This record gives sequence, C-alpha cells and structure tokens, in this order.
Amino acid sequence: MKHLWLMAGALMLGLNYSTAAEATTKQPHSEPVTPIQPAKVTEPAKVELGKQLFFDPRLSMSGVISCNTCHNLSLGGTDNLKTSVGHKWRPGPVNSPTVFNSSLSIAQFWDGRAANLQEQAAGPIQADVEMAMPHTLAVDVIRSIPGYGSQFKAIYGDEKITLEKITDAIARFEETLVTPNSRFDQWLLGDDQAITAQELQGYQLFKTHGCVACHNGPALGGTSFQKMGIVAPYKSSSPAQGRVAVTGKDADRFNFKVPTLRNVELTYPYFHDGEAATLAESVAVMGKLQLGRSYSEQEIKDIVAFLHTLTGDRPQIQLPLLPASVDATHRPEPFK
Ligand code: HEC
Ligand code: HEC
Repeated sequence: MKHLWLMAGALMLGLNYSTAAEATTKQPHSEPVTPIQPAKVTEPAKVELGKQLFFDPRLSMSGVISCNTCHNLSLGGTDNLKTSVGHKWRPGPVNSPTVFNSSLSIAQFWDGRAANLQEQAAGPIQADVEMAMPHTLAVDVIRSIPGYGSQFKAIYGDEKITLEKITDAIARFEETLVTPNSRFDQWLLGDDQAITAQELQGYQLFKTHGCVACHNGPALGGTSFQKMGIVAPYKSSSPAQGRVAVTGKDADRFNFKVPTLRNVELTYPYFHDGEAATLAESVAVMGKLQLGRSYSEQEIKDIVAFLHTLTGDRPQIQLPLLPASVDATHRPEPFK
C-alpha cells in the first residue's frame, strides 16, 4: 500500500520510471476520505490487559455491566439501543457511539468532553447511568485480583494498580479497534471493481452535495464539531445540548462531534438521541437539516448504498479469560 502511495508521489513529480507492467497497476484515488490504516500493536501485553478490563463486569457496581455491554464488539461496537441502559436499568440520555475507530476522533463523547480515550475510559466506570462504581472501589476490586496484579507488574514495572493504569490499558486496547479494508477503502486504493456503479454514484452525491464538508478524514467524521440543524432546527426530546456543556458558549448549543460513518450499517439507530431508526431516514434528515435538500427516493438509495461500502474488517476478538476474584474481593451489588 505504501508502495502505491510512493508511486503516486513519483508520478506527481513527473518521474517516469514505470515499466509497462507497472503502468497497469492500480492508482489510488485522491479523495477527502482516506483509508483506515491497520492497527500497529507495539505493546501486545498491555493491549491484552486492556481487553480483559474492557470485558470485565467487575468494574461495575452490579457485576454485570462491562464496557462491552454498551459497546458490543460482536455487533458494531454499540448496543443498538436508542439510548443506553445502565446500572439498575437507568436510561442514559444519549445513544452509545461505536468504539470502532474512535481513536481517530479529535475528542471523545458527543460533546467532546474527554480529550482522548484514556480520559474517556474513567467516565463510564463511575457514571450513575452506566457502571455506577466509585473509582476507588473499582481500583480496589482490580487490586484484589492476583491475576491482574501480576500483569500490571509485568507491564508497568511496579505493583501499584491505579485508575490511570487501568484506563491506559483500556485505551491501548481500544486503539486496536480499527476496521480497515472496507470495500470503499479498496476503491480508494485503486481497485475500481471494489464498489458498484450505484455505490460510486452515492459517493459522488455525498461528495458534491457537501456531506464530506463534515464527514471527512479516515473515519468520515470525528474531525470537527458541527451544529445539528444548520438549515432548519432539529427537534429532539433529548436533554443533550452538545458542545455548549463543555465550552459554556451559546454558539456551541446543539454542536455535536460529527459521528464516524465507518460501519454505519451496523451502528443503528442514529443521531445522539437515537431517533433515526434507519440509514435512509438519517440521510433524509441530513439532507434537509444540514444541506437544505429534499432527496428523492433514488438519491437516498444511492447514498445508503455508498454508506454500506464503509463496513470494514472488524477485529477478530478472542473472548478474554478473566482472572478469578479472591475471598477479599468486593462482591457485586446489583441493586445498590
Ligand atoms: C451503560 C452503557 C455504557 C457503558 C457500560 C460504557 N459506555 Fe461508553 N458510552 C456510552 C454512551 C451512551 C456514550 C456517549 C456518551 C456521551 O457522549 O455523552 C459512550 C461513549 C463512549 C466513548 C466515546 C466514543 C465517541 O465516539 O465519542 C468511548 C470511547 C467509550 N464510551 C468507551 C467505553 C469504555 C472503555 C467503557 C468501559 C470502561 C464504556 N464505554 C462503558 C455507553 C456506555
Ligand atoms: C454541517 C455538517 C454536516 C453535514 C453537511 C452532514 N452531516 Fe451528517 N452529521 C453531522 C452531525 C453533527 C451529526 C450528528 C447529529 C446528531 O447526532 O444529532 C451527523 C450525523 C449523521 C449520520 C448518523 C450517524 C450516527 O452514527 O448517528 C449520518 C448517517 C450522516 N450524518 C450522514 C450524512 C450525509 C449522507 C450527509 C449528506 C447528505 C451529511 N451527513 C451531511 C454533520 C453533518
């Protein structure tokens, strides 16, 4: 792949050393969307530890909720609920975004209140509507488990388990949750047969109508905060107000992080409030509210067909085997 880019660079510089065979080699398409790069794992033991913690329900007060409950890696890295359900069946205010490719975003959460994945991971452990586990107790539980102690020691060089180390390991695991090699990426890299004429037509509409102004970069999103309801206001019963919660600026009201469109066929329902049940519906709403366009049925079909080409290779995840609690480990309190 690197080879192809180098070749493209050489061609742009006007260097002409291609042979007849190379002249028929695929040429990458230069687009506002770029391919997802496969994950480079430099610390496999830490990634494995992070995976265990991601799947460990003992980080929750109830002992039944793990990160994977709401970011189900067998699905699209989400729970596919309108809004999430947390401790004691409490309804959360917003839709759970996918953890696939979330490392590519400028910030985490719909309103971007966490700067990065590590900072983000501390939030749900303690949040009342999520895992409802005070940080000190969460750390105590992990500390009490000898099978974790030995791993933290081997990876971090000392025995002291802290919230920072727990969230660091989770974040390093999440960085591996990228989904390269979608059919659209194959097309971007020069395989013109990878998508159909209809899918390409959908991409052309997506590009020329200006969806890419907001949904761009490798994740087709996650690069900026934008107002939901530019041309006409978006009506929602959700209490979420977006970025204003972070900046306090009125101009940021209803500004949300532009969500990634990678694997979007798997991450229904859509929008921060989960109000759009289908892709067709969300595309129609985007056309109207963000671009002032009323799409025909055909245009929506074409754009949705394009969106389906963005499903990449999800990581093959082997269910981690979690180390056992000991007698002294704090026991779950599902109804606390
Ligand atoms: C009860 C369901 C629930 C649980 C459990 C949960 N999350 Fe989330 N997660 C959500 C919701 C809902 C949001 C969006 C919240 C917001 O933006 O205000 C979110 C946001 C995120 C994001 C930001 C993604 C983005 O694109 O902005 C990441 C990353 C994430 N969670 C990882 C985790 C990790 C790691 C854990 C475990 C420590 C976890 N979550 C536990 C529901 C959950
Ligand atoms: C001005 C910026 C902007 C433009 C232009 C725009 N979008 Fe969006 N898009 C957003 C924002 C912001 C959201 C999140 C809104 C929310 O959750 O309330 C979003 C959400 C979406 C979603 C739902 C994703 C999810 O996981 O919830 C889809 C699908 C989508 N856009 C497709 C499109 C298409 C197709 C176009 C062009 C017709 C388009 N967008 C144009 C900013 C934009």
